[in-house]
Amino acid sequence: MKRMALLGVLVATPAAAQGPAPALIGEGQRLAQQWCANCHAVAPGQRPPAGDAAASFPAIAALPSTTEMSLRVFLQTPHAAMPDYRLSRAELDAVVAYILSLRR
Ligand code: HEC
Repeated sequence: MKRMALLGVLVATPAAAQGPAPALIGEGQRLAQQWCANCHAVAPGQRPPAGDAAASFPAIAALPSTTEMSLRVFLQTPHAAMPDYRLSRAELDAVVAYILSLRR
């Protein structure tokens, strides 16, 4: 049941078609600096924070297994090692757009 609801969210998200707007990516970067930089290096060339349990965002973006959908699913699922952020739809869109923008 939960899974069906999640799929509905994924399908309803328009970002993939034209690629996200630059403003969305900028907002995602701001959110990442604020919430994710304690554990992840969130920008290219940034030194990783203490400990290296969490991959850098550029490294995550470069993984063949990383897709818009995999990021959305990961970030909407509670993880033992990561705080449960309960990102809003808009925040999730922004953070996912930002991480994918690091893929070059
Ligand atoms: C308290 C530390 C911590 C914070 C804060 C944190 N993460 Fe993580 N994250 C981790 C750890 C540790 C892992 C690897 C273990 C795992 O997969 O659960 C991880 C894994 C991930 C992965 C999966 C990487 C892969 O291999 O596919 C993504 C995507 C991710 N984090 C995104 C984020 C985002 C986006 C934020 C901010 C909204 C964030 N994380 C904040 C610790 C953190």
